[in-house]
Amino acid sequence: MTDVPRSEITPEYVYLNRRQFIKGALTLTGAALLAACGGPAASSPTTSTAPASPTGGASSAPSLNLPASLAHPEPFVSVKTDELGDAIATYDQVTNYNNYYEFSLDKDGPAKLAANFKPLPWQVEVTGLVNKPRVFKMDEILSLFPQEERVYRLRCVEAWSFVIPWVGFPLASLLKLVEPKPEAKFVKFVGVVRPDEMPGQRFPMLDWPYVEGLRVDEAMHPLAILATGMYGKPLPVQDGAPIRLVVPWKYGFKSIKAITQIDLTTTMPATTWVKANSEEYGFYANVNPKVDHPRWSQATERRIGTTGRRPTLMYNGYEKEVASLYTGLDLVKNY
Ligand code: MTE
Repeated sequence: MTDVPRSEITPEYVYLNRRQFIKGALTLTGAALLAACGGPAASSPTTSTAPASPTGGASSAPSLNLPASLAHPEPFVSVKTDELGDAIATYDQVTNYNNYYEFSLDKDGPAKLAANFKPLPWQVEVTGLVNKPRVFKMDEILSLFPQEERVYRLRCVEAWSFVIPWVGFPLASLLKLVEPKPEAKFVKFVGVVRPDEMPGQRFPMLDWPYVEGLRVDEAMHPLAILATGMYGKPLPVQDGAPIRLVVPWKYGFKSIKAITQIDLTTTMPATTWVKANSEEYGFYANVNPKVDHPRWSQATERRIGTTGRRPTLMYNGYEKEVASLYTGLDLVKNY
């Protein structure tokens, strides 16, 4: 399917090379917060017909020299299912059922509130223990790193999931460019702070900015990507425009949206959800059906748009690829 060396480490089913891709064509209280990321979402996905808010796509595309992989006027997917044969979610589902607390605690809130957010101009500052600290402007990111389609499962800690066709590039490509120093052990990701544009940030329900982190070896894994788009279009605001992390073997809260800074450190970063409730949300957050959340089982999940529940897979189905990262680690203690 692909002829690049990366295919040797990235399974064909999650990697479609660019050529092939192109060919294919508030009640914002603490209590509410706990309810939102504190239990399997009770409500069904919104069927709101609210249009996906203007994003990179509508409002910002003119100022970017978009690669072909992000230039599709209509939602575009080169395949119909993931490698397990499960259907890819519709664009409407993925853009109207979101967790994005900077905007809202409601699943349909981010799409409704996204219009005031300006994803461009944007830059990502890479700091800390690197030989070549650097500020990347968004158009540099798009031209420096070939954008690929990656069809991944996203499994929220709340026990719902989607199959999403992201467009992005390996996080490792960016890290290699800045040359992490040997003493760098962790990568910290920092989200944007713009209370004027993000109404949820006017309330201290989380400690803003949203912060996430990975070990350096996790960050260098070929399945970890920085996404700039989905469905062959720039990322919609509600899904993390203009650039977000996607780590498919971990619970969705690790996949931080709207990244402004990437900082290489010796110590484990204090991440937003660990700070909010370390009993319930761990630093690792690897999808694990055998380690329940203190308040609900993680053995099964609800695939949005389908009925019933399905078994949750170890490492979200990416066990073969990522299990070796955790050899010798106690997965119960390091939840
Ligand atoms: N990133 C930021 N900055 N703020 C958030 O509230 N929510 C996380 C994650 N990234 C969140 C975030 C959670 S809990 C999930 S499940 C995923 O985003 C959801 O991604 P999606 O809305 O694109 O499906």
